[in-house]
Amino acid sequence: MTAKRVAIIGAGPSGLAALRAFGAARKAGETVPELVCFERQATLGGMWNYTWRTGLDEYGEPVHASMYRFLWSNGPKEGLEFSDYSFEEHFGRPIPSYPPREVLLDYIVGRIKRDNLEGDMRFSTSVREVQWDAEADNFLVTVEDLTCAHVYSERFDYVIVASGHFSTPNVPAFPGFDLFPGRVLHAHDFRDANEFAGKDVLLIGSSYSAEDIGTQCYKYGAKSITFSYRSQPLGFKWPEGFEEHPLLLKVDGDIAHFQDGVTKKVDAIILCTGYKHYFPFLPDYLRLKTHNCLYPASLYKGVCWIDNPKLLYLGMQDQYYTFNMFDAQAWFARDVIMERLDLPGRADMLADSKVWVARDQALENASQEIDFQTDYVRDLMTYTDYPPFDLDKVAALFKEWKHDKEEGIMTFRDRSYRSVLTGTMAPPHHTRWMEALDDSLEAFLAPVEQPRVRASG
Ligand SMILES: Cc1cc2nc3c(=O)[nH]c(=O)nc-3n(C[C@H](O)[C@H](O)[C@H](O)COP(=O)(O)OP(=O)(O)OC[C@H]3O[C@@H](n4cnc5c(N)ncnc54)[C@H](O)[C@@H]3O)c2cc1C
Ligand SMILES: NC(=O)c1ccc[n+]([C@@H]2O[C@H](COP(=O)([O-])OP(=O)(O)OC[C@H]3O[C@@H](n4cnc5c(N)ncnc54)[C@H](OP(=O)(O)O)[C@@H]3O)[C@@H](O)[C@H]2O)c1
Repeated sequence: MTAKRVAIIGAGPSGLAALRAFGAARKAGETVPELVCFERQATLGGMWNYTWRTGLDEYGEPVHASMYRFLWSNGPKEGLEFSDYSFEEHFGRPIPSYPPREVLLDYIVGRIKRDNLEGDMRFSTSVREVQWDAEADNFLVTVEDLTCAHVYSERFDYVIVASGHFSTPNVPAFPGFDLFPGRVLHAHDFRDANEFAGKDVLLIGSSYSAEDIGTQCYKYGAKSITFSYRSQPLGFKWPEGFEEHPLLLKVDGDIAHFQDGVTKKVDAIILCTGYKHYFPFLPDYLRLKTHNCLYPASLYKGVCWIDNPKLLYLGMQDQYYTFNMFDAQAWFARDVIMERLDLPGRADMLADSKVWVARDQALENASQEIDFQTDYVRDLMTYTDYPPFDLDKVAALFKEWKHDKEEGIMTFRDRSYRSVLTGTMAPPHHTRWMEALDDSLEAFLAPVEQPRVRASG
């Protein structure tokens, strides 16, 4: 009998979690399927790779990255730590709780490289089409090797979609944008806060991107920050120079008009209006259609496509938990593929999913959302041997983090938390976040504060 073949689409944290899950089974002496990971970028790490590019890349493909220079983790690293690979193991010592992007990238990729888990990686290869062949009982996956424009197809028994969902921007328009004299951009194309130094910046949206890009522009010298919200304000205790208004009605030249009657001159507008789940390579009958929520419908245990559970999705939820949740999902997906887990029938999978979806829809606040996602990860972990970790402590940590943000939106990243894996309290960073202008791995890991260079250009 030939080995089963599994296609993994994407080598971000979710796709890498799948490689790690199968790697753990192999290490335990089991025969694992043949894995092929297709990645459009030239390297591992997904969203955590920074690029200066926006729009299209060198091959004419949409640029995946939404991350920007000087991005620091927006939650404590103790909430996302892999339960089989602690930060202390990776860095050889405890590190502060809020690392910058490059440090987290090093951690994510390091877990794969140290154990040589890359296997059959096809970099610079974009998945163009996935079709289910009912007669052959497998998928036909068509990809393009971008380096030589070679299109080819291969057959796979299972497909894992780990292509992320914070890359295709949701871009609403407002009256007057066409004549606005400054720059209008989406957060997906934001790259460097230095560009907005000395400017009056308007951000539309009231979630993580607005909060982080707004505070970052302030940190790098913006003159003022105005948030405009559709549903509810961010509501933090903002320092002088910040204001929040209900939704923008229009811009008239460079004057923004808000629903509360306030007007304000602005120099640049950044749409922090979220992202769309977008799978152009999937036909309608296999494509997940959802908004950004904690429990997308149509997936059993948030992973298996109910209409054809040989198609599995990783990381499609909105996220409090990130890397450790992707792991819990990947272990579940692995055990479905390796037939260690018996899936219930379609009706039972649908019924199970409906219960979670209804519970998600009834959530009223962040604390309930954290409990919900904690229960979800806990439920997933009951099915597999993903190394257990104290989920109640992680939930408490996320609630503490929310509280710390309310206490000080410009200072919460100076706090330290205890690892639920090692029990070690994180040391404070050598430089307060507001003053830490150099976000390089070297500066972060240096024992003492580095000279304050403004990393521009
Ligand atoms: C601005 C921003 C900041 C964030 N900050 C944090 C944070 O501080 N902490 C945190 O935990 N999370 C953060 N996140 C969430 C982040 O998305 C997750 O941590 C994580 O990257 C999701 O992993 P993923 O593998 O599911 O998706 P991604 O990391 O997006 O990776 C998907 C991969 O699939 C590839 N791909 C897509 N389509 C194709 C195709 N057709 N063919 C081949 N390959 C394809 C992409 O190139 C990419 O490499 C942030 C997200 C954004 C947008
Ligand atoms: N490390 C970091 O610091 C960092 C920085 C940025 C982003 N991130 C991550 O990136 C992910 C995405 O965050 P996000 O903030 O981009 O997206 P998001 O959480 O999905 O929020 C989207 C926001 O856009 C608003 N919106 C959508 N359509 C709108 C419209 N037509 N008009 C006005 N407002 C509209 C929404 O308002 P409603 O509430 O009304 O729907 C919401 O406030 C998150 O996982 C986050 O953690 C992390």
